[in-house]
Amino acid sequence: MATKKDIICEPAREDDVDELVDLCLLVEKQHEAYWSVRWQLRPDIRARYIRWMMGNLGQPRWLLLAARLAAPNGPVVLAGGLVAAITEEIPIYTYREYAFIHDLAVKPEFRRRGIARHLLEHARRWAADQGVNQLRLMAAHQNAAAVALFEKVGFRVTYHEMVWPTN
Ligand SMILES: CC(C)(COP(=O)(O)OP(=O)(O)OC[C@H]1O[C@@H](n2cnc3c(N)ncnc32)[C@H](O)[C@@H]1OP(=O)(O)O)[C@@H](O)C(=O)NCCC(=O)NCCS
Repeated sequence: MATKKDIICEPAREDDVDELVDLCLLVEKQHEAYWSVRWQLRPDIRARYIRWMMGNLGQPRWLLLAARLAAPNGPVVLAGGLVAAITEEIPIYTYREYAFIHDLAVKPEFRRRGIARHLLEHARRWAADQGVNQLRLMAAHQNAAAVALFEKVGFRVTYHEMVWPTN
């Protein structure tokens, strides 16, 4: 496993966006393969994703994180990323907002080195600094690796989203 000092977690830059989007698309395609009723992708998804991410880069209540790893005697490479945003809750709870993780992915060749855990811990500290009391996310129940990761770091299952097609 990479040690914490090998992993650099920092705000993503404009020139990271292409690679981050490609990583996120791996997840989207995986989801579409699970069940296209729920996750059917538009044909121009890459261009849309890039526009969405560029629009959120640097926004105050958005977190776009890049995880970089220094290869031994080699360059620093982008190994993974995370996108989160502060989101408003309906006004019936004692808290007004929560942090929602939209995307998290690590390149296949850098997995099981603690990079996702590092990104999540960074996001949790950011959420606390933003004054919100919880981080949320959705994980497809077929995605055993993601579910294992989230439970390991401390997330607890609350909802089971259920979808009933109308045709
Ligand atoms: C899920 C994912 C983000 C994990 O990234 P990672 O950097 O490999 O995860 P970490 O190394 O930080 O793993 C931390 C712990 O999570 C659990 N975990 C991670 N991957 C796992 C796997 N494939 N199987 C079982 N447990 C796993 C383990 O407990 C692991 O600790 P360990 O290595 O000491 O056993 C990565 O597999 C990925 O990018 N998958 C495709 C994208 C995706 O599914 N994203 C989540 C969408 S909701």
